[in-house]
Amino acid sequence: MNKALRKAVIAGNWKMNKTPAETTALINEMKPLVADAGCDVVLCTPFVDLQAALEATAGSNIGVGAENCHFEKSGAFTGEVAAPMLTEMGVQYVIIGHSERRQYFGETDETVNKRTLAALENGLTAIVCVGETLTQREQGVTAELVAMQTKIALLNVTAEQLKKVIIAYEPVWAIGTGRTATAEQAGEVCALIRATVASLYGKEAADGLTIQYGGSMNAGNAEELLAQPDVDGGLIGGASLKAPDFAAIVKAASK
Ligand code: PGA
Repeated sequence: MNKALRKAVIAGNWKMNKTPAETTALINEMKPLVADAGCDVVLCTPFVDLQAALEATAGSNIGVGAENCHFEKSGAFTGEVAAPMLTEMGVQYVIIGHSERRQYFGETDETVNKRTLAALENGLTAIVCVGETLTQREQGVTAELVAMQTKIALLNVTAEQLKKVIIAYEPVWAIGTGRTATAEQAGEVCALIRATVASLYGKEAADGLTIQYGGSMNAGNAEELLAQPDVDGGLIGGASLKAPDFAAIVKAASK
């Protein structure tokens, strides 16, 4: 990562794990371990845990995020949560377009774009996920696919709004599989995402963009991944559910 140009951000993605009581307990365990972090620290939790997370993190250096938001402000969308609802609670971040949402819940590049715009219009920082499947990597279309996902996600996002965008490169084949991209593979695609953003917004804006790697990042491999110049942090699933493991990744990003 290049700390002179941009912020390192380590974000946990708890997925569908932890009850509110477990949220309080895990954050209380994490707080002292990450208190002197030299990077931004974020925890994205299930909707029902957000209140507990906000209370447990109050006065600490941990930011709180949701794992999705709808693109409409309100309406007949049973089971969905709108961006203004999150903002009013004090939530600062939201993950958009995670591959599990694309795979299991019909999320498309178009809905990712709409949700990204809704998040930004409501002052949230959007952690926008892109990444290829194993088949796509084997077909040799990773570069084209990730550039396309990035471009569509950012349609109509202004240069000012881009300052509140984080892009997370998450190769689908590395998520929850224990199979991490090599540091070179991660670095290569993150550089490509930066070049794509530079083609849309210019070099300075692209240099200021935080690009995370996600996919089986853990205490053992974080340092090597984060040593890549275009990898500015991580979106951490499994390892964010264990305080010592998450703290070790935060420590690696703080160097
Ligand atoms: P993982 O998940 O760290 O468990 O692979 C990452 C993610 O899905 O964001």
